[in-house]
Amino acid sequence: MHSCRPARTAVPAAAVALLLVTGSAGCTGGGAGVQGTPGAAGLRDPLFPKLGNGGYDVRHYGLTLGYDPATGRLKGTAEITARATQDLSAFHLDLRGMTVHGATVDGAAAATNRAGDELTVRPRDDIEKGAKFRTVIRYSGTPRPVTNPDESQEGWLASEGGALAVGEPTGSSTWFPGNHHPSDKATYDIEVTVPAGLKAVSNGELTSERTRGGKTTFVWRSKQPMAGYLATLAVGDFRVASSRTPAGLPVITAVDPSVAEDSAELLGRIPEIMKWGTEKFGPYPFSSTGAIVVPTDEVAYALETQSRPVFPQEQFDEPTLVHEIAHQWFGNSVSPASWQDIWLNEGFATYAEWLWAEEADGTPVEESYEEAFADDGNWAFPPAGPPGAEDIFARPVYMRGAMVLHKVREAVGDERFFSVVKGWAAKHRHGNATTDDFTAYVEKESGKDLTELWDVWLYGEEKPARP
Ligand code: TRP
Ligand code: ZN
Repeated sequence: MHSCRPARTAVPAAAVALLLVTGSAGCTGGGAGVQGTPGAAGLRDPLFPKLGNGGYDVRHYGLTLGYDPATGRLKGTAEITARATQDLSAFHLDLRGMTVHGATVDGAAAATNRAGDELTVRPRDDIEKGAKFRTVIRYSGTPRPVTNPDESQEGWLASEGGALAVGEPTGSSTWFPGNHHPSDKATYDIEVTVPAGLKAVSNGELTSERTRGGKTTFVWRSKQPMAGYLATLAVGDFRVASSRTPAGLPVITAVDPSVAEDSAELLGRIPEIMKWGTEKFGPYPFSSTGAIVVPTDEVAYALETQSRPVFPQEQFDEPTLVHEIAHQWFGNSVSPASWQDIWLNEGFATYAEWLWAEEADGTPVEESYEEAFADDGNWAFPPAGPPGAEDIFARPVYMRGAMVLHKVREAVGDERFFSVVKGWAAKHRHGNATTDDFTAYVEKESGKDLTELWDVWLYGEEKPARP
């Protein structure tokens, strides 16, 4: 009974559902009509196949959130602006837990469905490839942490009197619906309302703060594209400080009062490390910097959340601060195309630690390299090939990743190496890159065939006989 449906014709939801079932069978080119199909439920990431969604590209997230630590409940509205990359009859968003109360697409009510960590939105009218659309999702619930395949905890980490959201690799889907694969970067406005007296700190810059009726609303803006895993939100009794680097970049720091004294000195050194990073890696990609320091029991690792990395107090030390600041160039601005490319994040951030150690404490890079080479615990698998999702933060990713960079440096010489490092950060600034992009770039810039280097150091299973 269905013929090819012309675009923008109002069809009752039941008929759309039937159309989804019958598909386009029998339609032989009905002119300009949009015959959408559902966007894919995942982007087939080699390690996280269901992460992200096909058929659209998010431009902007406008999140309006309310959180009360006393109840642990989060109430949210996500306003997502996206562009369709195919004719869409429906599309997916990643959302873990939470209850969805309603959705609209371009102002019209849309049907929703939940299955596992997928939220499906079925608009009244199909969306034409290339069209920009706006979907609004209203939701609430008690967000939960995610236990990763490596047993690490991420996502929404509630604590006594507050909460901390960290999202690598998939946990951002615990607190807002979206396209949570690192390949779909977008700008963000994050508005958070909390009981008066508490602070809410997120990425980017604070654009407004007002207290009314016993509640305070903070609005944070990330003007440069951000991968979902780098979004953060810290709610609690923080001491927030705002200053500027000598170059004029805003520095926004937030510290839990119980760790304020211990972290004060290192927080004061952020401008110096920023200047060093800019000299080594090129222009800083974001419009502010800073740090969030929380008590050690709240999170087990530091994370390079965009413009404002998070640290458990015990790991708020100089090498870790250098590491997370280096990630702002490598990982946050130049983001991995898939989680298989994680060594491009961790190899560079680890190599940055080695460079810093040479200049700050006189430990030659060569020595850091040799120590990493000697340790058999670093050789379980090649850096470009973490075998499973549980391996993305394992030592070969960091240590063999940094060793690859050192081998490139030996092969092309210091001058060319540092120009390649800056050139790489510039070429993919605010974008995504694959391991193949990297090897091709190094070969092109150096004019050298480095096949053997890649085979041994990047892809090789075996530890070479000599460093
Ligand atoms: N990417 C973080 C860093 O290197 C580390 C990290 C994030 C991590 N999640 C993790 C380490 C889980 C171990 C387990 O700065
Ligand atoms: Zn790292």
